[in-house]
Amino acid sequence: MAERIPMFAGNWKMNLSLEESERLISQIKDGITNLEGVGVLVSPPFTSLPDVKRALGESEIRLAGQNLHWESSGAYTGEISAGMLVEAGCTHVILGHSERRTLFGETSEMIDLKVKAALGAGLTPIVCIGETLEEREGDRTFDVITEQLDGSLKNFREGKIMPSSTILAYEPVWAIGTGKTATPEQAQEVHQFIRQWVSENFDGETANDVRILYGGSVKPENAKDLMSKPDIDGALVGGASLKAELFIPIIRFRES
Ligand code: PGA
Repeated sequence: MAERIPMFAGNWKMNLSLEESERLISQIKDGITNLEGVGVLVSPPFTSLPDVKRALGESEIRLAGQNLHWESSGAYTGEISAGMLVEAGCTHVILGHSERRTLFGETSEMIDLKVKAALGAGLTPIVCIGETLEEREGDRTFDVITEQLDGSLKNFREGKIMPSSTILAYEPVWAIGTGKTATPEQAQEVHQFIRQWVSENFDGETANDVRILYGGSVKPENAKDLMSKPDIDGALVGGASLKAELFIPIIRFRES
């Protein structure tokens, strides 16, 4: 069985000026020189992508868009296509983040179209799923996760193939930006469930290869414990990815 290489993805959301972005990239580059056995990715706002790409230079750090539109071009004011992200230097794209789902009305059906567009342009999708506090307290976590996976990855299900490069991110909505992290046990329980879903809908090999990131108030203090769980393959980090002194120790979790 191939070992899954952990991935740490910094979701900058709508933060950082160009100058701040360039400084942060230079600090992250310095902070992880020669570090092996992890993948690192940053996801800046659209307007910063070309500058961040330049700042990354020859580094192995990957670049991701925070969203895309499923059409390749046309009259979609305010939108960005998968091809445009590729042109700006992206290799990945975050799709279905809970902020997109709740604040901007994205449905799993839309996310499914976006996943298809991403792959069509050669981008690796990072597909986010997660339950709200109300859903967790109503004992609906696994139903919600199943519904989101079924809907957001409908194309894959219909084609009976899921590219093993696909990245899934479990982000309990109640843990995002709140300082409340799921315990490693709570996260592991859902990650295991997600991997089982992949196995049932596709096959065991795909389930073994797919990386499932945890997101929601990941910090240097909790990264190592989360990463000790067998089905947690890295993190999608929001707030703590904006500061080199927090993001670097998360990436270097093995040393803490
Ligand atoms: P947070 O955000 O780390 O600030 O909780 C995570 C995310 O929204 O991806």
